[in-house]
Amino acid sequence: MSSKRLEALYARAESEVIDAITSLRAELGDRVLILGHHYQREEVFRFADVSGDSLKLSQQAAATHVPNIIFCGVHFMAETADILTADDQCVMLPDPAAGCSMADMADGAQVAECWQQLTSVMDPDAQVTPVTYINSTAELKAFCGEHGGAVCTSGNAERVMRWGWGEREKILFFPDRHLGENSALAMGIPENEMVVWRPGEPLGGNSSEALQRARLILWDGFCSVHQLFQPEHSATMRQQHPGIAVLAHPECSREVCEAADFVGSTEMIIRYVVEAPAGSQFAIATELNLVNRLRLQHPDKPIWFLSPMVCMCSTMFRTDPQHLLAALQDVAADRSGNRVQVPTAVAALARIALQRMLDLG
Ligand code: 13P
Ligand code: SF4
Repeated sequence: MSSKRLEALYARAESEVIDAITSLRAELGDRVLILGHHYQREEVFRFADVSGDSLKLSQQAAATHVPNIIFCGVHFMAETADILTADDQCVMLPDPAAGCSMADMADGAQVAECWQQLTSVMDPDAQVTPVTYINSTAELKAFCGEHGGAVCTSGNAERVMRWGWGEREKILFFPDRHLGENSALAMGIPENEMVVWRPGEPLGGNSSEALQRARLILWDGFCSVHQLFQPEHSATMRQQHPGIAVLAHPECSREVCEAADFVGSTEMIIRYVVEAPAGSQFAIATELNLVNRLRLQHPDKPIWFLSPMVCMCSTMFRTDPQHLLAALQDVAADRSGNRVQVPTAVAALARIALQRMLDLG
């Protein structure tokens, strides 16, 4: 998309841009489907035909036959949608710079290097199931497809890990250390059966014995947004608002999740709030846009943001009404615009790992 076209959209009043999105979206009808992640800003989120967590949105992408999908989310989500849709369906990411800093913490070369190093201690292809969080590049999903592994999301990590341990004795989990650790602890895996793999260090900073003993090898990655929550924030909230329930996303640290009353994906957090009786009070540890939306939608249930600091995902925030309108204009003009297209060979292997996850339900 030309920067001149965007500049022209920024020169218009925001209300005009919103009106233009409304009428163009109506005009395009079933030529386009707009998917919106819960962390999207309100001005964009309101136009989502389907909103959800990564699991729900990937299931939706796998099921739709609409020719154009505009994914209001981040790059790995659009890649996933492209992998799960037919070749003649076009997936667009309104702002191609909307990445995910966690997904960038593991790349194909680093994971291949880790697998190679593991061969000096064990036979990884016989003993280790690679599991990648969906917040990862298509290349890593392909690695899992090629090596008997699977993808997971924050909504099904335990189910996928149970499957992974059914296949082989160990799991290599990347790129989010916290989701892997929190899920394993919830499944009763003791701490002494987990090690952390620090890319760049020989054997990831572990001894051969520790790797042989481990059932779970956790890549040392994290979400810079969720790491801002601290367990002390829960203690303060509980002191200030007796009876409050703390809800946390599993990308938060182990200490934050242990201090919470409920840990779950964005979709699960929403369901928890929706199903609670009026008068329930919550402090929520996940991205600010979602917490603010819940607060507005449930005035009868006081809701606080767990951290005193603002924790927003700056890359999710990149998708603004101007980029959404430009993407709709691309669809109207039959331009591929900011299409996200995973190379065929990578997509074929990545689809195997994604399908294993989807088949688990
Ligand atoms: P979910 O919406 O799947 O819980 O994931 C949160 C997230 O960080 C997406 O990047
Ligand atoms: Fe990535 Fe964290 Fe943003 Fe989710 S919230 S997209 S994990 S940086």
